[in-house]
Amino acid sequence: MNIIVIGATSGIGRAVAEIYMSRGHRVGITGRRANLLEEIAGCHQDCEVFVKPFDVSADTASDSLAELVEDMGGVDICLYSSGYGHTNTSLEPSLELGQVDVNAKGFVRCAVWLFNYWAVNGLKGHLAVISSVASILPLGVCPAYSATKKFEAFYLETLRQLAVIRKADIGFTAIKPGFVDTDFIHGRHFPMTIRRDRAAGQIVKAIARKRKSVVINRRWALLGMLMKLIPRPVWNWGGRFFRPYTDMF
Ligand SMILES: NC(=O)c1ccc[n+]([C@@H]2O[C@H](COP(=O)([O-])OP(=O)(O)OC[C@H]3O[C@@H](n4cnc5c(N)ncnc54)[C@H](OP(=O)(O)O)[C@@H]3O)[C@@H](O)[C@H]2O)c1
Repeated sequence: MNIIVIGATSGIGRAVAEIYMSRGHRVGITGRRANLLEEIAGCHQDCEVFVKPFDVSADTASDSLAELVEDMGGVDICLYSSGYGHTNTSLEPSLELGQVDVNAKGFVRCAVWLFNYWAVNGLKGHLAVISSVASILPLGVCPAYSATKKFEAFYLETLRQLAVIRKADIGFTAIKPGFVDTDFIHGRHFPMTIRRDRAAGQIVKAIARKRKSVVINRRWALLGMLMKLIPRPVWNWGGRFFRPYTDMF
């Protein structure tokens, strides 16, 4: 199978890409840090790895994605893992807008190109995105992060209905991890932090099973269900308990 991981230089994306490589799939890897992509490819010379460095926030990102798909001779599955987050209680505009550029606009650039590629050519495809448990309820300590993670998951829902309208054979998976031990959390230890290789294994399984939405892992799924039961005014009032956590990531 041909699989692309957008944002494979580190963290969850890299761990997922390495699972697919170890299973002998043809894997396309992207991210801005070209040296890391070459390093990953160098460690997996026993399988076909296609390297394409690009910045998802650039207007040319979809052209780069198109070139990668052409180099690979097609794509069956794509995981969008590019993203970052910042707590930002002072609402520094550049921090807010930067997250919108990568988590929302970059995702849309890649998602629309892939959707049209599969739909127009009558091909089967699967698109997955790493959203977050931060999408379950609005988090005031990180407004753009929480909102863009909700956007990613909700955008997939809209594409799912569009696929029905356009009679396209495309599957979608929104993945919502809790804390995972990647550069994202800067070496800090939060309760219920998941090892990245374990998270990656569960993500690969969820995509194979064509799950529509999955919280990683079970404990976070349970917490997520409980969070959803909290009435919104109570949740907002509870914001005072987040005051010590204004620089979580
Ligand atoms: N770790 C957690 O606790 C956690 C929890 C929930 C959700 N998530 C989500 O998981 C995803 C992956 O994060 P991670 O935890 O694996 O952290 P990470 O190790 O920092 O990985 C982030 C990835 O995004 C790529 N990226 C960032 N900006 C980019 C840009 N402008 N263009 C292209 N690629 C870009 C990075 O590649 P380059 O820097 O090389 O471009 C890197 O490969 C993120 O969307 C994050 O929101 C993480």
